[in-house]
Amino acid sequence: MSTAVSDNDTSSGPQQAGPKPPPVPEGSRTVTLKIQRFNPEFDEEPRWESYDVPALSTDRLLNLLHYVKWYLDGTLAFRRSCAHGVCGSDAMQINGVNRLACKVLMKDMLAPQGKPTVITIAPIKGLPVQKDLYVDMEPFFEAFKAIKPYLITYGNEPSKERIQSPADRERFDDTTKCILCACCTTSCPVYWADGSYFGPAAIVNAHRFIFDSRDQGAEERLDILNDAEGVWRCRTTFNCTDACPRGIQVTKAIQEVKRALLFKRV
Ligand code: SF4
Ligand code: SF4
Ligand code: FES
Repeated sequence: MSTAVSDNDTSSGPQQAGPKPPPVPEGSRTVTLKIQRFNPEFDEEPRWESYDVPALSTDRLLNLLHYVKWYLDGTLAFRRSCAHGVCGSDAMQINGVNRLACKVLMKDMLAPQGKPTVITIAPIKGLPVQKDLYVDMEPFFEAFKAIKPYLITYGNEPSKERIQSPADRERFDDTTKCILCACCTTSCPVYWADGSYFGPAAIVNAHRFIFDSRDQGAEERLDILNDAEGVWRCRTTFNCTDACPRGIQVTKAIQEVKRALLFKRV
């Protein structure tokens, strides 16, 4: 689970400029960030605000958000921690697509020379917005916890370690890569329509244990996912697979869980 650090400053409403920005780096281009803002203390509805920021092609979008936060408007709130695609805390909608801001390279975002680059940034969808790009992740983690994301064993304690063949380990390798960023769940139309659906991330993490040869809790987890809000809600639209920054075959994992339920075989 990621340990998110918040750049959340709830003490102020209107724009709050910070220290003088550093000199504009040579070779940089001006990029306009159009950011959805919402401060529950001042706003009834979300609004859009634009910021012009110097960007190098080697920058990541997260660098530009830091520039806004540190030099242009300290009231901007967003999460980030590792800045290297590991903690999963900076998921946001970037030009309408769920991505991690720290993994978006400016070289892929810049318009051709002479044309303006405008990037829209909004919070991920389907979770309550607390401030700006900062959402309440609690419903997401509740679904994750509900599928018992830990090894379950009954007796047969080994004297040393629980042995597993490379082939058995390979069976669930893909789903071990999840960093709980919520890009998949918050790109799922079923989750948008009904937040009580477990969502793809929870099912991916159930898959990680259901297909682990050392685990004995598969039946319990399958029972949980056989619920009205479980795997059968998935409409196989692949949004989740497209959104996953770790390249996990999310929809395939959901299909495998469905098959395990249908054929009672793991
Ligand atoms: S494949 Fe299923 S879980 Fe993934 S986005 Fe589509 S409906 Fe949601
Ligand atoms: S499956 Fe992928 S998109 Fe979904 S939470 Fe895990 S890492 Fe993020
Ligand atoms: S800040 Fe950790 S994944 Fe982007």
